[in-house]
Amino acid sequence: MGLLVFTAGKQAALAIPLICGKTFGMKSLKILVLNGPNLNLLGTREPEVYGRETLDSIAQDMNACAETLAGVELEFFQSNAESDLITRIGATRGAYDGIIINPAALTHTSLGLADALKAVADVIPAVEVHLSNTHAREEIRHTSLTAPACIGQIMGFKGESYILGLRALVRHLRAYTSPSV
Ligand code: DQA
Repeated sequence: MGLLVFTAGKQAALAIPLICGKTFGMKSLKILVLNGPNLNLLGTREPEVYGRETLDSIAQDMNACAETLAGVELEFFQSNAESDLITRIGATRGAYDGIIINPAALTHTSLGLADALKAVADVIPAVEVHLSNTHAREEIRHTSLTAPACIGQIMGFKGESYILGLRALVRHLRAYTSPSV
Protein backbone atom coordinates (compact mmCIF):
# COMPACT_ATOMS: atom_id res chain seq x y z
CA MET A 1 0.00 0.00 0.00
CA GLY A 2 1.41 3.41 -0.97
CA LEU A 3 0.81 6.98 0.10
CA LEU A 4 -2.61 8.26 1.02
CA VAL A 5 -3.49 11.25 -1.14
CA PHE A 6 -6.69 13.24 -0.90
CA THR A 7 -8.05 14.56 -4.15
CA ALA A 8 -11.54 15.32 -5.30
CA GLY A 9 -14.03 13.96 -7.79
CA LYS A 10 -12.81 12.28 -10.95
CA GLN A 11 -9.15 12.81 -10.06
CA ALA A 12 -9.55 10.82 -6.87
CA ALA A 13 -11.08 7.95 -8.77
CA LEU A 14 -8.00 7.87 -11.00
CA ALA A 15 -5.33 8.58 -8.37
CA ILE A 16 -6.29 6.08 -5.69
CA PRO A 17 -6.14 2.98 -7.87
CA LEU A 18 -2.77 4.11 -9.26
CA ILE A 19 -1.29 4.67 -5.80
CA CYS A 20 -2.60 1.45 -4.29
CA GLY A 21 -1.96 -0.63 -7.39
CA LYS A 22 -5.56 -1.79 -7.23
CA THR A 23 -8.74 -0.92 -9.04
CA PHE A 24 -11.37 0.12 -6.58
CA GLY A 25 -14.80 0.47 -8.10
CA MET A 26 -13.71 -1.33 -11.28
CA LYS A 27 -14.35 -5.06 -11.30
CA SER A 28 -11.37 -7.18 -12.26
CA LEU A 29 -11.52 -9.26 -15.40
CA LYS A 30 -9.93 -12.58 -16.20
CA ILE A 31 -9.34 -13.23 -19.89
CA LEU A 32 -8.19 -16.43 -21.54
CA VAL A 33 -5.98 -15.97 -24.62
CA LEU A 34 -6.11 -19.02 -26.87
CA ASN A 35 -3.84 -19.77 -29.81
CA GLY A 36 -4.29 -22.61 -32.25
CA PRO A 37 -2.01 -24.80 -34.37
CA ASN A 38 1.41 -23.62 -35.53
CA LEU A 39 1.22 -20.28 -33.73
CA ASN A 40 3.96 -21.59 -31.41
CA LEU A 41 6.20 -21.19 -34.48
CA LEU A 42 5.63 -17.43 -34.84
CA GLY A 43 8.84 -15.49 -35.32
CA THR A 44 10.22 -17.87 -37.91
CA ARG A 45 6.99 -19.06 -39.55
CA GLU A 46 6.35 -17.22 -42.85
CA PRO A 47 7.44 -13.86 -41.36
CA GLU A 48 6.34 -11.99 -44.50
CA VAL A 49 2.77 -13.10 -43.69
CA TYR A 50 2.72 -13.21 -39.89
CA GLY A 51 5.49 -10.80 -38.87
CA ARG A 52 8.61 -11.49 -36.81
CA GLU A 53 7.09 -11.33 -33.34
CA THR A 54 7.06 -14.55 -31.35
CA LEU A 55 4.02 -15.70 -29.40
CA ASP A 56 5.94 -14.92 -26.20
CA SER A 57 6.59 -11.33 -27.24
CA ILE A 58 2.93 -10.91 -28.21
CA ALA A 59 2.00 -12.22 -24.74
CA GLN A 60 4.40 -9.69 -23.15
CA ASP A 61 2.85 -6.84 -25.14
CA MET A 62 -0.62 -8.01 -24.12
CA ASN A 63 0.39 -8.14 -20.46
CA ALA A 64 1.79 -4.60 -20.72
CA CYS A 65 -1.48 -3.47 -22.28
CA ALA A 66 -3.51 -5.30 -19.60
CA GLU A 67 -1.62 -3.36 -16.93
CA THR A 68 -2.66 -0.06 -18.46
CA LEU A 69 -6.27 -1.26 -18.50
CA ALA A 70 -6.07 -1.94 -14.73
CA GLY A 71 -7.62 -5.01 -13.15
CA VAL A 72 -7.21 -7.22 -16.21
CA GLU A 73 -5.55 -10.60 -15.77
CA LEU A 74 -4.54 -12.68 -18.79
CA GLU A 75 -3.93 -16.39 -19.06
CA PHE A 76 -2.33 -17.85 -22.19
CA PHE A 77 -2.76 -21.26 -23.78
CA GLN A 78 -1.51 -22.52 -27.14
CA SER A 79 -2.14 -25.96 -28.59
CA ASN A 80 -1.74 -27.72 -31.89
CA ALA A 81 -4.58 -30.05 -30.90
CA GLU A 82 -8.18 -29.07 -31.63
CA SER A 83 -9.47 -31.17 -28.70
CA ASP A 84 -7.23 -29.35 -26.17
CA LEU A 85 -8.63 -25.99 -27.29
CA ILE A 86 -12.21 -27.28 -27.17
CA THR A 87 -11.64 -28.65 -23.65
CA ARG A 88 -10.18 -25.32 -22.45
CA ILE A 89 -13.13 -23.37 -23.86
CA GLY A 90 -15.58 -25.79 -22.25
CA ALA A 91 -14.00 -25.14 -18.85
CA THR A 92 -14.22 -21.33 -19.01
CA ARG A 93 -17.72 -20.96 -17.51
CA GLY A 94 -17.40 -19.42 -14.05
CA ALA A 95 -13.61 -19.13 -14.37
CA TYR A 96 -13.12 -16.38 -16.99
CA ASP A 97 -14.90 -13.27 -18.17
CA GLY A 98 -13.84 -13.37 -21.80
CA ILE A 99 -11.79 -15.08 -24.49
CA ILE A 100 -9.38 -13.79 -27.12
CA ILE A 101 -8.83 -16.51 -29.70
CA ASN A 102 -6.69 -16.98 -32.77
CA PRO A 103 -7.92 -20.39 -33.92
CA ALA A 104 -5.29 -20.39 -36.73
CA ALA A 105 -6.11 -22.98 -39.43
CA LEU A 106 -8.99 -24.30 -37.29
CA THR A 107 -10.76 -21.02 -38.07
CA HIS A 108 -11.61 -22.40 -41.48
CA THR A 109 -12.36 -26.01 -40.57
CA SER A 110 -13.49 -26.56 -37.00
CA LEU A 111 -17.20 -26.83 -36.30
CA GLY A 112 -16.19 -28.31 -32.94
CA LEU A 113 -14.34 -25.15 -31.94
CA ALA A 114 -17.25 -22.98 -33.13
CA ASP A 115 -19.69 -25.11 -31.10
CA ALA A 116 -17.49 -24.83 -27.98
CA LEU A 117 -17.42 -21.02 -28.28
CA LYS A 118 -21.20 -20.97 -28.80
CA ALA A 119 -21.69 -23.23 -25.77
CA VAL A 120 -20.26 -20.57 -23.42
CA ALA A 121 -21.12 -17.43 -25.42
CA ASP A 122 -24.10 -16.63 -23.17
CA VAL A 123 -21.68 -15.62 -20.39
CA ILE A 124 -18.21 -15.51 -21.96
CA PRO A 125 -17.83 -13.29 -25.02
CA ALA A 126 -14.98 -14.09 -27.39
CA VAL A 127 -13.05 -11.93 -29.84
CA GLU A 128 -11.38 -13.63 -32.81
CA VAL A 129 -8.02 -12.24 -33.89
CA HIS A 130 -5.72 -12.96 -36.82
CA LEU A 131 -2.25 -11.71 -37.60
CA SER A 132 -2.83 -11.70 -41.35
CA ASN A 133 -5.76 -10.36 -43.35
CA THR A 134 -7.22 -13.74 -44.29
CA HIS A 135 -9.55 -12.10 -46.84
CA ALA A 136 -6.52 -11.03 -48.88
CA ARG A 137 -5.22 -14.61 -49.00
CA GLU A 138 -6.31 -17.92 -50.55
CA GLU A 139 -10.06 -18.41 -50.90
CA ILE A 140 -10.13 -21.24 -48.37
CA ARG A 141 -9.09 -18.70 -45.72
CA HIS A 142 -11.96 -16.33 -46.50
CA THR A 143 -14.44 -18.29 -44.39
CA SER A 144 -14.35 -18.38 -40.62
CA LEU A 145 -16.51 -21.02 -38.93
CA THR A 146 -15.61 -19.58 -35.54
CA ALA A 147 -16.28 -15.85 -36.13
CA PRO A 148 -20.09 -16.18 -35.90
CA ALA A 149 -19.61 -17.50 -32.33
CA CYS A 150 -17.62 -14.36 -31.39
CA ILE A 151 -18.72 -10.80 -30.65
CA GLY A 152 -16.18 -9.48 -33.15
CA GLN A 153 -13.14 -10.18 -35.28
CA ILE A 154 -9.91 -8.22 -35.82
CA MET A 155 -7.37 -9.15 -38.46
CA GLY A 156 -4.47 -7.95 -40.54
CA PHE A 157 -2.44 -5.99 -38.00
CA LYS A 158 0.08 -8.73 -37.12
CA GLY A 159 0.73 -8.80 -33.35
CA GLU A 160 -1.23 -5.58 -32.89
CA SER A 161 -4.45 -7.48 -33.71
CA TYR A 162 -4.20 -9.11 -30.27
CA ILE A 163 -3.84 -5.73 -28.54
CA LEU A 164 -6.78 -4.27 -30.45
CA GLY A 165 -8.82 -7.38 -29.64
CA LEU A 166 -7.95 -7.11 -25.95
CA ARG A 167 -8.92 -3.43 -25.77
CA ALA A 168 -12.21 -4.08 -27.58
CA LEU A 169 -13.07 -7.04 -25.35
CA VAL A 170 -12.32 -5.16 -22.12
CA ARG A 171 -14.42 -2.19 -23.23
CA HIS A 172 -17.24 -4.55 -24.14
CA LEU A 173 -17.05 -6.38 -20.80
CA ARG A 174 -16.97 -3.15 -18.79
CA ALA A 175 -19.78 -1.55 -20.77
CA TYR A 176 -22.22 -4.39 -21.33
CA THR A 177 -21.75 -7.18 -18.82
CA SER A 178 -21.36 -7.71 -15.08
CA PRO A 179 -18.13 -9.69 -14.64
CA SER A 180 -18.13 -12.76 -12.39
CA VAL A 181 -14.99 -11.87 -10.44
C1 DQA B 1 -4.01 -17.06 -38.98
C2 DQA B 1 -4.63 -17.21 -40.35
C3 DQA B 1 -4.95 -18.66 -40.67
O1 DQA B 1 -5.49 -18.77 -41.97
C4 DQA B 1 -3.70 -19.50 -40.60
O2 DQA B 1 -4.02 -20.86 -40.80
C5 DQA B 1 -2.94 -19.32 -39.33
C6 DQA B 1 -2.79 -17.97 -38.80
C7 DQA B 1 -3.55 -15.62 -38.70
O3 DQA B 1 -3.38 -15.28 -37.53
O4 DQA B 1 -3.36 -14.85 -39.63
O5 DQA B 1 -2.34 -20.24 -38.80
O6 DQA B 1 -4.97 -17.39 -38.00
